[in-house]
Amino acid sequence: MSLSAVELKQDLGLSLVEFHEEVSSTQEVARKLDAEPPYLVYARRQTTGRGRLGRSWHSEDGGLYLTLVIERFREDWSATITSTYLIHKALSCYVKNLILKWPNDLLYGKVKLAGVLAEAWGYLLGIGVGVNVNQEFLNDELEGHATSLRSICGKLFDMDELITGLVPVLVKGLCELRLKGFGYFHPFIRQLLLTSKHKVRVKYKSKMVSGFLRDLYPDGDALIQTRKGSSIRINAGQLLGGDT
Ligand code: BTN
Repeated sequence: MSLSAVELKQDLGLSLVEFHEEVSSTQEVARKLDAEPPYLVYARRQTTGRGRLGRSWHSEDGGLYLTLVIERFREDWSATITSTYLIHKALSCYVKNLILKWPNDLLYGKVKLAGVLAEAWGYLLGIGVGVNVNQEFLNDELEGHATSLRSICGKLFDMDELITGLVPVLVKGLCELRLKGFGYFHPFIRQLLLTSKHKVRVKYKSKMVSGFLRDLYPDGDALIQTRKGSSIRINAGQLLGGDT
């Protein structure tokens, strides 16, 4: 365990902080651990990292891959967008003008910098966070679709430092969400979301639809305007993956 992991464990009251050189997915490892929440699993690379809507998440060396496991709570459907907002907050000290895209993306310009995948199992909620940090993106599949902190800032980042900065923002923010409720975060998140002009994709009545986010309500539901001009209201509950 690196020094940062020991500090994180003590300062944030985590029962366990586990680091792996390589895992299939930190979500899978976290799910199999017999530990008391909150706990954290992070890895240098993943062989089968996954994202929302069944997509894979490229997880070679150089990226940040972690899963924070907390206890489920009344408004746990709001964990996806609130965690994405918290990551936005944590990374804003490195990059200005990051875009928060509903329901789980952080973009720089039109390309993706980070994503969140929240999944529930039993009484637990695993918040998976992937951030492109030191990768160069020579991979054809990703070029033009993804960027990294390194590409944006033109320098290499110290992963320990980044994790030690980001995890407390996430842990404390999620505690606040549990205590104060989504209503507390809603105005900040809504304001950021409505400045994003990017198309979103979501499942609606078992079909994939894409459109533009026109509003986010205090109960977490989103109003999407489809290409054909109709408005649909997406229930926040469906954004939580896993055995819900
Ligand atoms: C997305 O943008 O669709 C979500 C990406 C989430 C990726 C992270 S990396 C750590 C954790 N383990 C996974 O397999 N996925 C999440």
